[in-house]
Amino acid sequence: MPDTISFARGAPAPEALDGDLIARCAAEALASDPTVILSYGTGGGYPPLRTWLAEHHGTTADCVLITNGSLEGYVFLLETFMSPGDLIALEAPTYDRAMLQAQMHGMEILSIPMQDDGMDVSALAAACAAGQVPKLVYTIPNFHNPAGSTLSLEKRTALIALAEQYDFWILEDDPYGRLRFEGDDIPGIYELAGPERVMFSSSFSKTLAPGLRVGYLIAPAALIGTLTTRANQTYISPAHLSEAAVHQVCVQGLLPGNIARVTDLMRVRRDAMVEGLVHMPEGTICTPPEGGFFMWLELPEGMSADALLPKAQEAGVIYVAGSACFVSGGENTLRLAYSGVSPEEIAIGMERLGSVLNAR
Ligand SMILES: Cc1ncc(COP(=O)(O)O)c(C=O)c1O
Repeated sequence: MPDTISFARGAPAPEALDGDLIARCAAEALASDPTVILSYGTGGGYPPLRTWLAEHHGTTADCVLITNGSLEGYVFLLETFMSPGDLIALEAPTYDRAMLQAQMHGMEILSIPMQDDGMDVSALAAACAAGQVPKLVYTIPNFHNPAGSTLSLEKRTALIALAEQYDFWILEDDPYGRLRFEGDDIPGIYELAGPERVMFSSSFSKTLAPGLRVGYLIAPAALIGTLTTRANQTYISPAHLSEAAVHQVCVQGLLPGNIARVTDLMRVRRDAMVEGLVHMPEGTICTPPEGGFFMWLELPEGMSADALLPKAQEAGVIYVAGSACFVSGGENTLRLAYSGVSPEEIAIGMERLGSVLNAR
């Protein structure tokens, strides 16, 4: 058992990473297309994977940009589609790096509270009605990072209607949606509204392996052209070998099996963490997620997850203080990632965490 059990990293557990699968697919890719893979390519990414992704999402390859992880596509959007001072709506809480990048790029941030069934769309509607119309709404609809929640179909429809009414864009960031433990899939926002209103990003980091650094963005062709130029000016072309290995996984039909395997691994971890909730202080609020990597805890008012973090670390367990995921506030919240640790570690880590939180 490690000295410190980390609930802080939103990464797949070592058992989720199938080195043999990637080795086989990389070897097959190299054998079939060595020159393209080993040369400089276009900024848009490995062309056969662009084509596969386009078909998978019902669009054309010129609307797909493959990046070194999906965060990079978002950053390119901030640098090209957005300008400093533009208003971007982010969920509160949101993915900490998405917020950080928005801040680093000089965006004005409109924080939209989260509820059990995703962002509070009526709060966004009220802000729009009061004249605060964002240029872009960034949302993580499925198994949210960090909140764990999933945006309901009604709210997806309401968000799209709002985007039509106030003429803003939506970026649907969906790296976790295929990792569902139970319940039915909800149609995606991009799927529901189409490409005139919604951009879509996702990643193979959670379904295959984060070290491959393969993510992608789907957006209108003209914008993807601009972003491709930006990518080309920055790194010439992304790492084609990773992308070609992913392409082999996809065309050989091996992705669904791997996703099912990873989903099973994550489900038992979620269950272990739910069991560990008995150790949390009375009054702690948590809605267990139906998929993905994260559980979100709201501690009783007056408790500070920031202040308790050093004590938790001393006791051998770490988490992300929820305040890192808000522009301001959220001191009594924390994010627990069950994704990267074993069920046994989760059981011990939750006990350790409970003893720290109860001893406050
Ligand atoms: C919501 C969300 N978007 C994007 C990313 C970035 O993923 P990638 O590894 O593809 O850059 C993450 C990673 O944690 C995430 O949680």
